[in-house]
Amino acid sequence: MDLGINGKTALVTASSGGMGRNIAHALAAEGANIVLFARSADKLSAVAREIEQKYGVRTVGVPGDMCVGSDVERLAGVLEREFGGPDIVVVNTSRPPNPIRATLDEADEARWREAYQNQLWSAIQVLCRMIPLMQGRGWGRLIAITSASVKSPMPHHSLSTVFRAGVTAYMKHLANELGAKGITVNCVAPALIETPHRTGMAAYSEDQAAARRNLTPLGRMGTQEELAGVVTFLASMQAGFITGSTIAVEGGMVGSLL
Ligand SMILES: NC(=O)c1ccc[n+]([C@@H]2O[C@H](COP(=O)([O-])OP(=O)(O)OC[C@H]3O[C@@H](n4cnc5c(N)ncnc54)[C@H](OP(=O)(O)O)[C@@H]3O)[C@@H](O)[C@H]2O)c1
Repeated sequence: MDLGINGKTALVTASSGGMGRNIAHALAAEGANIVLFARSADKLSAVAREIEQKYGVRTVGVPGDMCVGSDVERLAGVLEREFGGPDIVVVNTSRPPNPIRATLDEADEARWREAYQNQLWSAIQVLCRMIPLMQGRGWGRLIAITSASVKSPMPHHSLSTVFRAGVTAYMKHLANELGAKGITVNCVAPALIETPHRTGMAAYSEDQAAARRNLTPLGRMGTQEELAGVVTFLASMQAGFITGSTIAVEGGMVGSLL
């Protein structure tokens, strides 16, 4: 199926590794030109090179921090100058503060402030600066990566749930205001997506990993490709009548009917 985004410009934030990088690959595979944004310049250059070589699309890496206004301003400048603005914006963010804790133990102001900055303010700041560049184009896609915890709060995840719920609410407001401009606004809410172990993060024991797999009727973790494929579909022409929605990618873990 031709998704109709060949030649469009897609910004993917938090894309020097992990999910952001994989989403950028999936969009590039459909012919979208890619702008990457994250703090590590060296990793960004490597991802930009691999995407350009593999798909032959134009790829630019802009080093910067989503929480820093002047960095986001610089990102907007690159998009405006070099592409005339973005058509597709995927707002991915960093993970919440580590280690995760039970809600009653989560009483440290610094961790709440960090989670607010990284999970909510960073997303709002990027969107506020990108939307003016998109409004005159008559077509657009805004997609935020949140978490399945907005549908079913998971133990030890309050620092994530509280601010992902904020992003979800913000995206719903945007969907209502931007529909008339041809811009759809949606969230993708993952859980249990297989993620390579990162230094400094607690690794799961085999028992814990098995318990996580068994949280879904499918009895397995999701793949990065399955997550990136859903994001890419939401960015497509065919997804034009989906807006204000949250699409869960969690293998059926959330038990609600809707
Ligand atoms: N895996 C799942 O099942 C699951 C479930 C729910 C939610 N999520 C969420 O999905 C998102 C992506 O997860 P992941 O596993 O891909 O994370 P990851 O591997 O830790 O990657 C995070 C990316 O964010 C970038 N980044 C961090 N802080 C940044 C900042 N201030 N400004 C710009 N870029 C920044 C990092 O690059 P630099 O260090 O170079 O900046 C990196 O590229 C996270 O928010 C995670 O919580 C995942």
